[in-house]
Amino acid sequence: MIVKTLTLKGFRNHDYLTYDFNEGMNILTGHNGAGKTNVVESLYYLSLARSFRLNDDEGLIKKGRDNAEIYAEVKEGELTRKIRVLLNQTGKQIFINGKPVNKVSELARVVNVILFEPKDVLLFRGSPKNRRTFLDVSLAKKSASYLDYISRYEKVLKERNELLKSEKVDRVLLDTTTEMLVKLSCPIVSYRQMYVKDINDILNKITRALTGEDDKIEVVYKPFIEQSVDFESKALEAFKRAEESDLRKKATSIGVHREDFTVNLNGRDIGEYGSQGENRIAALALKLCPYFLIEDKDKRPIVVLDDVMSELDQQHRLRLITFLKKFEQVFITATRLEVAGASNYQIKKKKKEVF
Ligand SMILES: Nc1ncnc2c1ncn2[C@@H]1O[C@H](COP(=O)(O)OP(=O)(O)OP(=O)(O)O)[C@@H](O)[C@H]1O
Ligand SMILES: [Mg+2]
Repeated sequence: MIVKTLTLKGFRNHDYLTYDFNEGMNILTGHNGAGKTNVVESLYYLSLARSFRLNDDEGLIKKGRDNAEIYAEVKEGELTRKIRVLLNQTGKQIFINGKPVNKVSELARVVNVILFEPKDVLLFRGSPKNRRTFLDVSLAKKSASYLDYISRYEKVLKERNELLKSEKVDRVLLDTTTEMLVKLSCPIVSYRQMYVKDINDILNKITRALTGEDDKIEVVYKPFIEQSVDFESKALEAFKRAEESDLRKKATSIGVHREDFTVNLNGRDIGEYGSQGENRIAALALKLCPYFLIEDKDKRPIVVLDDVMSELDQQHRLRLITFLKKFEQVFITATRLEVAGASNYQIKKKKKEVF
């Protein structure tokens, strides 16, 4: 897919900004604080109806204004869709070709964005939650059934946790929710296992293209129960063993919502042993993998890289730029960057109101 045009009104520091973008590389340059990441944030918002920096949409509205708007024309093959997001103090409204969108999944089907942001360098060092989110979001974009399983799992998990918090726990109901969790876990673990296998097939190729080294890089997924014919009985036993502690802690302590993966570089956990630069390149390579795993080429995501170049040496920069030519459309922000053949956009702080 391609974002053909983007217009922001009252979004973050931008009163009014509009761009026609091209296929290939689009470079957004500007001083610190000019509003480059804000533009990136608006592109990301188009795919998940939320910011990657804020939980609360109110902060996205320009200070002193009542509302904000993101408008984009997005091309998928021969089809062009018009997407409009309106934000105000009471919430958000989203329209695709003028029709209101009620579910985020409808939007997620239409716009797909791979984002690399500066804090992704901590992907392997920080909390498992970020790694799970990466896995869940990219798998959900590839498979609607996975999205369905994971949404149902989260709903049942919430019910089980509420049950555990009740004054007198209904044991029969607790068993029922545990069984439901186990039933939903089985396909989730299978999906994750298969996806990680697919990722490993391409992760090495991407990393080698980015580094020029012959390193071996591998995602090691750690399911709470290994997939096998007796998965369900083993999972039930594990839940039973954890039950007393769950009752004490009033929360579900095991399950797919607690799983994690590590990335090993030449056999060692990169989070623990890798350098800052190695972590950055591995996180970038991993984040780019889902692009190649979406079979329908027209549905492949746009790639948005916020400030990715700043800590890379000249050789790694050149390798990355060469690699990025593989993608249909890429956005890169930088304070300064020149690439032959790329489209350039200067982002400036607006001094006075435009409308
Ligand atoms: N709701 C808002 N209303 C007005 N201004 C805002 C709002 N939210 C953020 N800003 C301002 O937007 C400015 C630009 O932020 P942004 O993070 O996009 O800059 P940037 O160009 O990415 O800079 P850097 O090169 O340092 O990463 C900041 O000065 C910030 O104060
Ligand atoms: Mg920025």
